[in-house]
Amino acid sequence: MRLAFVTSNPGKLEEAREYLAPLGIEVYQLNVDYPEIQADSLEEVAEYGVGWLAERIGDPFFLDDSGLFIPALNGFPGVYSAYVYRTLGINGILKLMRGIGDRKAYFKSVIAYWDGEIHFFEGRVDGVIVEKPRGSGGFGFDPIFSPTGFDLTFAEMTTMEKNRVSHRGRALRGFATWLKENLK
Ligand code: IMP
Repeated sequence: MRLAFVTSNPGKLEEAREYLAPLGIEVYQLNVDYPEIQADSLEEVAEYGVGWLAERIGDPFFLDDSGLFIPALNGFPGVYSAYVYRTLGINGILKLMRGIGDRKAYFKSVIAYWDGEIHFFEGRVDGVIVEKPRGSGGFGFDPIFSPTGFDLTFAEMTTMEKNRVSHRGRALRGFATWLKENLK
């Protein structure tokens, strides 16, 4: 089967393709800009986006809304991750973390699938913000995030390695399981 992924992010697209291709699901990109509202949770942002897109796209589609949450910064950048990445960047986050001992962080991803109704699949990965950026793979905050149990940052992993532990990989796992059961 073929599934539309509404995203402008080539990194997200590659991860979804790599995860879903072995399950016989071909993901194609719909590069449509949809409004990302300011809200308290990723779910609300995703839900608004899906509602907006559902009025414009006939076929089923999914999107992914993600964020990096740093408890020592009260969850910042969280739902503001895209804006913070564009403005402060990874070096801005490292500056904010200077002198802070607790470097714990987590990524969260919400996949929202629309097939006439909305279905949510979530994933989370815990880890730490490293001292200096490392690696050239992945995208976004990957060079400064190292998942628990690994010395590598996400940017030092292959897409397959990142998918095995990442927030998006976990959300994709739930999505794939659901698709197998519901699209017979
Ligand atoms: P959004 O889901 O497109 O709104 O992404 C929020 C921000 O978080 C973007 O700036 C991404 O760069 C960043 N981000 C989302 N997922 C990941 C990831 O898997 N690794 C690193 N950064 C990510």
